[in-house]
Formats: sequence, C-alpha cells, structure tokens
Amino acid sequence: MRSASRRVRGEGKRLALVPTMGALHEGHLSLVRAARAASDVVAASIFVNPTQFGPNEDLAKYPRSFGRDCEMLEREGVEFVFAPSVEEMYPAGAVTWVTVEELSGKLDGRSRPGHFRGVTTVVAKLFHIVEPDKAFFGQKDAAQVAIIRRMVRDLDLPVEIVVCPIVREADGLAMSSRNAYLSLEDRKRALVLHRSLERVRHLVDEGERDALRLIAAGHEEFVREIAVRLDYFEVVDSDTLDRVADVSRGALVAVAAYVGATRLIDNILLGPAKSDNH
Ligand code: PAJ
Repeated sequence: MRSASRRVRGEGKRLALVPTMGALHEGHLSLVRAARAASDVVAASIFVNPTQFGPNEDLAKYPRSFGRDCEMLEREGVEFVFAPSVEEMYPAGAVTWVTVEELSGKLDGRSRPGHFRGVTTVVAKLFHIVEPDKAFFGQKDAAQVAIIRRMVRDLDLPVEIVVCPIVREADGLAMSSRNAYLSLEDRKRALVLHRSLERVRHLVDEGERDALRLIAAGHEEFVREIAVRLDYFEVVDSDTLDRVADVSRGALVAVAAYVGATRLIDNILLGPAKSDNH
C-alpha cells in the first residue's frame, strides 16, 4: 500500500484516503465521492478494527460484505482498496497506542471505555501506511471527528481532515452499518434519535438558547419510546466535547441510544446565532 501511495504521489498526484470498517452504504459512498472530487487518486480501507470494540460489543457479528464492498468501490472509481488482516495490523506483541487524552473519555468514550484509543491507534497507523494528502470522515461520528482532528494537530500528522455531512434514510434515520441489526419494529423505534434532534433544532429556531432546556426536550422524546434506552443526550462544544450552557455560539447536539441490543448514534451541529434579540 505504501509503495503504491509513494508511486502515485511521486507522479504529483494527490491521494485521498477513506477509512471504513466495510458493510458499505450511501454514507460511506458520500465520503468516497467527496474524496474523488477533491483528489486524483482515491484509496479506501476496509478493516473491522478489533481494538475499538469492547469485550461485550459486536465485533464477532459486525456485518461483513467484502465482495460487495469492493464492487461498490470499483463502481465509484476507487483505485486502491487496503484491506489488511488483523495479524498484519496488530502483530503479536503490539503494545503501542495513540491516545487523545480527555476527549477520549467524553460522549461515546464514556460509555465505551477504550473505544477511541482503538480508533486513534488504527487511524494513525492507516495514515502512516497510506500517507494520504487528505482523509475523509463523516459527521455521523462527531466525537470521532473531534478526536482525530486533535490527534492530527497534536502529532503534526501531514494530512488534511475533511468532514462530510450525515447521510440519512428518507425518513431521517442516519445511515449506519449497524442499522442492519434492527428488526422491523426496532427500525421504527430508532427514529426517536432523529426526532429528538429535530425537536431541539425547532426550539433553537424559535429562539431557545439554554442547553438544559434543550436537553430536557430531547429527553422527553425518549420517555415516550420506552423500548429505547437513552445512553446520552448532550449539548457540547464540537471541538472540546465539553458541555456548554448556552448554544448562542453554536454547539454539537449528540445522542446515543440502545434500540434493543443495537447502539445507535446521531447528532446535529447548531451554527452560531445570527442575533439573539430580533
Ligand atoms: P465506519 O463506521 O465504517 O465509518 C467509516 C466512515 O463513514 C466514518 O468516517 C463515518 O463517520 C462515515 N459514516 C458512517 N455513516 C455515515 C453517514 N450516515 N453519513 C456520513 N458519513 C457516515 O468510523 C469508522 O468506520 C471507524 O471508526 C474507522 C474510522 C474506520 C476506524 O476504524
């Protein structure tokens, strides 16, 4: 992979990387298309990274569809697919980690200890192996974006991070490889994540700026959907992931919930308020 990368970049071509865990859907393909538009050569990685799964999480049953993924990537004109084995990425005795302190314990990191350490370690490795000029990530994983941006800044990694908007199903459900786990009933219940965020956006449009009141409104939607267990509903600064009291200067509203056994996440970005007293 590295020699292929050095060859194309030696020809003066700009290389983009789209890191994925496979089971590709339109969300992933939106990143591929943005990468395609912004560079000469596109590489996608497919690697179900064991170190970002907790001991009781879904590593073993995570959806895998390698053949279909490759066909989809080929149709999008992706030049390289990097799909290493677990043994190649983590040879016996690998004990070195990349950890973004503090941020890694917030949002999903609070309920998934060690998750972001696995993400930052594998993404740093992918950057070193592929040496892309740009790497494309989805806003769907808002905490992951903040943490990877911080890692790149703190470690002076020579890559530009590009973030693409969340791609949704027609009814608003954020696309996710884990949606494949949902029963028909749970698929309907899962809409509560999007509904709670839309309720917050509506309140902000009407002038509400107080984070606690927005959170309370978000929670209310979940009280009505008793088969869904809320993990967190937070209003935070999108860079530091620290809670904010007031959304006037913009904020990230992020939610995670268990629909049956399936953990889903979603979020919206609120822009800075144009004027608070019109
Ligand atoms: P994965 O969940 O496969 O997602 C790969 C990329 O696709 C991530 O950047 C994610 O934010 C983006 N993505 C997923 N669903 C999306 C949607 N509905 N709209 C827009 N983008 C979406 O995230 C990971 O893999 C892993 O943590 C990884 C970065 C590959 C490291 O292992």
